[in-house]
Amino acid sequence: MSDATTSPTPSPAHQPRILSGMQPTSDSLHLGNYIGALVNWVSLQDDFETYYFVADLHALTVPTEPAVLRHRSRVTAAQYVAGGVDPVRSALFLQSHIGQHAELGWVMSCLTGFGEASRMTQFKDKTSKGQTANVGLFTYPMLMAADILMYDAAKVPVGEDQRQHLEITRDLAERFNTRFGPTFVVPEPHILKATAKIMDLSDPTSKMSGSTSPDAGLLLLSDDPKRLTKKLRSAVTDTEREIRYDPERKAGVSNLLVIHSALSGTAVPDLETHFEGKGYGDLKAEVAEVVVEAVAPFQTRMAELLADPAELDRIVASGAERARVVADTTMARVRDRVGLLAPLV
Ligand code: TRP
Repeated sequence: MSDATTSPTPSPAHQPRILSGMQPTSDSLHLGNYIGALVNWVSLQDDFETYYFVADLHALTVPTEPAVLRHRSRVTAAQYVAGGVDPVRSALFLQSHIGQHAELGWVMSCLTGFGEASRMTQFKDKTSKGQTANVGLFTYPMLMAADILMYDAAKVPVGEDQRQHLEITRDLAERFNTRFGPTFVVPEPHILKATAKIMDLSDPTSKMSGSTSPDAGLLLLSDDPKRLTKKLRSAVTDTEREIRYDPERKAGVSNLLVIHSALSGTAVPDLETHFEGKGYGDLKAEVAEVVVEAVAPFQTRMAELLADPAELDRIVASGAERARVVADTTMARVRDRVGLLAPLV
């Protein structure tokens, strides 16, 4: 490590900032997004200055009908709010409303080695699964680095699958600071715990994923109670009878216990005791009750928000206004540091 990488980063005059986002690439968030991410975002609002955005520019890496993308971006923003993101305490915005993300993304691309970008596993995974390899998918991590560094985010709550993207973000921040002088806060990853990892109901050895799980494996936050109950009733378990947490040998049953525990707040060992002598049918029925009860108020709020698009537009406009103040300051600093002349007006 060179001396310069240890040079101090600016100490900001505000509460530590948290930033995170999700891509609007499906018609609804699922229970894994809710338990694994959203619940966490919501609780972070108490102690941090929080920035939550809809990563619509990132979603362009997947070819999508314009009307569908518009719909999904609105739904995603509404679901953040329905899940408890408070637009008063958090800046909630659409990534594309802050043009500086793309601008800083370009600067980050110019700091990234071609070989370095080629080693990103998400790019390799997605293209090996047949997703068209557009250049946007290749430079995806540099745009993500821009999202994070723009706001001097101290912590970035994301799932394990985003760890490598955070590492390259840290590398880029340090590289920039070394080359141009202390400019960016080097963010800490805040990898969300494995216990909050919700698995696919139809294949409990893979993660519940909006892009890869079949519908039967996904509990969508937009599914009505009947559908949620039906999907849980068909969840894959095992041929034993015992209700015990053992993710290695009993992935399906363990997943159901984790879902119950996350939503009811009852610890898994207490659930094991509670279900002693009972069957898988009882477990599934009770998890369905807990899920339906948790999702019902969420759905009511989501329906209200989607019924009033003007209100939703106002929410993201006020979030963008707050985000833009920070983005303007950061970009002015970056332009100066890298040697771009300031325009007269
Ligand atoms: N890549 C993230 C995902 O797919 C979404 C994302 C884009 C993000 N920019 C970000 C997450 C910045 C955290 C911070 O989940």
